[in-house]
Amino acid sequence: MNSTSVSEAVDRRMSVRGFLPKPVPYDIVREILDKARRAPSGGNVQPWKVNVVAGEALTKFNAIVAEKLQTMEAEPAQYEVYPPKLWEPHRSYRFKTGEDLYALINIPREDKMGRLQQLAKNFQFFGAPVGLFFSLDKKFGPPQWSDVGMYMQTVMLLAIEQGLDTCAQEAWSRYPETIKSFCDLDDDAVVFSGMAMGYRDPDHPLNRLRTDRAALDEFTTFHGFDE
Ligand SMILES: Cc1cc2nc3c(=O)[nH]c(=O)nc-3n(C[C@H](O)[C@H](O)[C@H](O)COP(=O)(O)O)c2cc1C
Repeated sequence: MNSTSVSEAVDRRMSVRGFLPKPVPYDIVREILDKARRAPSGGNVQPWKVNVVAGEALTKFNAIVAEKLQTMEAEPAQYEVYPPKLWEPHRSYRFKTGEDLYALINIPREDKMGRLQQLAKNFQFFGAPVGLFFSLDKKFGPPQWSDVGMYMQTVMLLAIEQGLDTCAQEAWSRYPETIKSFCDLDDDAVVFSGMAMGYRDPDHPLNRLRTDRAALDEFTTFHGFDE
């Protein structure tokens, strides 16, 4: 029995953007997704749908996407990843995370092509041997999108327990049609996010990124406690 505590898993989870080319056994992926079924959802509606792509299917999928990438053409978006004008302090949080990430691989702001090339690695799941897609019916609203997020976080924490790492990827919102067609999703499906999963490449510079967080008191107010 693995002895990873919840606190350890929460602390160790990070977005990993460089993976070893080592396959993840089907049984392990299945166990993670199966255990994650205990994730909560409002009214227990369990709005999530998951598609897992690995092995030959992943090679095939990556090739389809690589061809799409050549044209730089995105498919019609099913949702906006960020509000059009992100406000403070969230804008700065996002900006700094990007700057810290590109600094680790020495890509300055002016190097637009370098940044685009790094961004494009999303569309090969950063070399991960397993790619996942999380979707839900478009009739569902914000509460159910949040439920899908809870399922995803549960998956990411359980992956840690198995010695695996992940990177959630809403970048995949760029290719909903390709994903829906490849995974044979319903017409009404919205692809919320992808996720790369695999064994971390310990030498990859991007895996040294320890992102910042706002201090607790910046976003929390306690009422009625005797401090
Ligand atoms: C729903 C969701 C979607 C994300 N999409 C992407 C993505 O498309 N590409 C990427 O590199 N990181 C993506 N991330 C990772 C975030 O950038 C990352 O969680 C954040 O910077 C905090 O860093 P950490 O995960 O290492 O703690 C996503 C995270 C979440 C929760």
